[in-house]
Amino acid sequence: MRVSVLGATGTMGGLVVKALLQVGGFAITSKVSSSGGIEAMFNCSDVIIDFSCPLATEAMLRSAEENMSHVPIVIGTTGLSDMHRKLMNERAVHAPIFCSPNMSPLVAILNSVVSFLAKAVDEDFDVEILDRHHRMKKDAPSGTALMLGRAVAQARNRAFDDVANFVRYGIIEQRKRGEIGFSVQRSGNVVGTHEVAFVGALESIKVKHEAHSKEIFAKGAVKAAQWLVRQSNGLYSMDDLMKDTISPLASL
Ligand SMILES: NC(=O)c1ccc[n+]([C@@H]2O[C@H](COP(=O)([O-])OP(=O)(O)OC[C@H]3O[C@@H](n4cnc5c(N)ncnc54)[C@H](OP(=O)(O)O)[C@@H]3O)[C@@H](O)[C@H]2O)c1
Repeated sequence: MRVSVLGATGTMGGLVVKALLQVGGFAITSKVSSSGGIEAMFNCSDVIIDFSCPLATEAMLRSAEENMSHVPIVIGTTGLSDMHRKLMNERAVHAPIFCSPNMSPLVAILNSVVSFLAKAVDEDFDVEILDRHHRMKKDAPSGTALMLGRAVAQARNRAFDDVANFVRYGIIEQRKRGEIGFSVQRSGNVVGTHEVAFVGALESIKVKHEAHSKEIFAKGAVKAAQWLVRQSNGLYSMDDLMKDTISPLASL
């Protein structure tokens, strides 16, 4: 299978190249970075894997549209906005598109557990989400923290933007019922830790995922690419890839 890597000179791109070589069965036909090459990817790829930056992801999606491409795309880049989501939805009419802010299978399970907990306990339980990452990370809160927050809001039938609280500074008044609080730490070379706490007056429950190596994300993206090329056009996430594993939790 011919694969192009967008962001190939970066930390994640390098790990994706390593994972592709380890897994085997892939020919890496183009490695794209800020020095150019996005346009050329579509004619030489059976699948594209993107770990770059929001600007490059946007350029890639627009270029795919201009090229009327049907090439499946796996997007791992984070810090994406509603504009990116609109572009992905438009693209998904013409090609299979996979996007996840976290390619770890265990984080997909965590997301389902969080969704389950949010349904199992009421809003007397305050939800606090903590993300810890290395000092180089450019976006905050992490895409994963936002995904977990959205899972809570959705499970509680709340609009995420109404309940998410990203800023606490100065006189902040009392915590609102149903609020989802976000805390962010950036230091050293922490790969990525996410904690979601449901805190009640008499008891609490906390779930946590800790990534020990970024290789897990690269391996997850390669697995997603292998899976995506067999799918029809549409927008997919880790929930789709992991459906068999997480569906028992979703039905609880
Ligand atoms: N989904 C997940 O599981 C997951 C896990 C970890 C990280 N991430 C995300 O993956 C992304 C990349 O992370 P990283 O640590 O690998 O970053 P990085 O080391 O800074 O690498 C960024 C890559 O993007 C390229 N790039 C930057 N601007 C570009 C442009 N305008 N056009 C084309 N390429 C461009 C860079 O090329 P140059 O070298 O030429 O600048 C480099 O190859 C981030 O958004 C990060 O949050 C996702």
